[in-house]
Amino acid sequence: MTTSNPRVRKAVIPAAGLGTRFLPATKAMPKEMLPVVDKPAIQYVVEEAVGVGLNDVLMITGRNKRALEDHFDRVPSLESTLTDKGDTKKLESIQAASNLGDIHYVRQGDPNGLGHAVLRARQHVGNEPFAVLLGDDLIDARDELLGTMIDVQAKTGGSVVALIEVDPSQISAYGCADIQELDGEGYVRINRLVEKPSPDEAPSNLAVIGRYVLHPAVFDVLEETGPGRGGEIQLTDALQELATGEGEGYGVYGVVFRGRRYDTGDKLSYLKACVQLAVDSDDLGPGLREWLPGFAAQLSK
Ligand code: UTP
Repeated sequence: MTTSNPRVRKAVIPAAGLGTRFLPATKAMPKEMLPVVDKPAIQYVVEEAVGVGLNDVLMITGRNKRALEDHFDRVPSLESTLTDKGDTKKLESIQAASNLGDIHYVRQGDPNGLGHAVLRARQHVGNEPFAVLLGDDLIDARDELLGTMIDVQAKTGGSVVALIEVDPSQISAYGCADIQELDGEGYVRINRLVEKPSPDEAPSNLAVIGRYVLHPAVFDVLEETGPGRGGEIQLTDALQELATGEGEGYGVYGVVFRGRRYDTGDKLSYLKACVQLAVDSDDLGPGLREWLPGFAAQLSK
């Protein structure tokens, strides 16, 4: 480790998007607060960051930030009610969220895109590499990803994205990576990124998912990045510049994730994620497993 490339300590969680795919549920609260089984999606993401030692968490929030701040804050009145009742299980469950790391908030103002949200982290992050975690993607706590990405960032001194293999017919829903294998390495080099290509144009079946470990050089690039797809400042455009240009901290690498990932970005995949996670949970799993086969049988009648 050198001082010019310190180890990652900070996580940035953008949560200022409008969440239009979940309207009307997201009219007054961020989609990151939607419950997945029994916790808001964002709590899984904060737990993942803290789990690899990123105790300094910055959330980029929008106009509905109140629910987020309240969720990670203490609620003394509720704590004393549960203490009086002797309900330690529930008490621990609410304290778990307020004991997670050191959480900071900054407002995005206008939600001008993911790149714009990440740029709002510049002052807090400073000149260090940092992780970005999107609440749309939940990575199963039993599978390893972020720690590996942090190691690859330390080794390469560039930026790192997470990739998954998807069916070629699905690639048009993702950013797609044109990659070069690196002999003897557990990661790949990214030659270029293509946003939502048709299956014919896609350079691979490797899709970018919502985990990044970025060199702070991304901030200067984002300052110069104009509006892209949808008129928004896109993180993918800045990564494309880092992958193809030259400069200190340039170079983008990819870690291919083969573990369990749950997409919660739209209503259908969100519902599937809730079921997948609930069948594995200790308290809900047995009842759900018992009920599901009968329910599925009725559907095929
Ligand atoms: P999405 O592309 O899923 O956008 O953002 P969205 O606005 O939240 O959702 P839809 O498409 O309207 O339903 C990916 C992540 O980036 C954050 C979102 O909160 C989400 O975690 N984001 C997006 C911001 O923080 N700011 C933005 O301007 C855009």
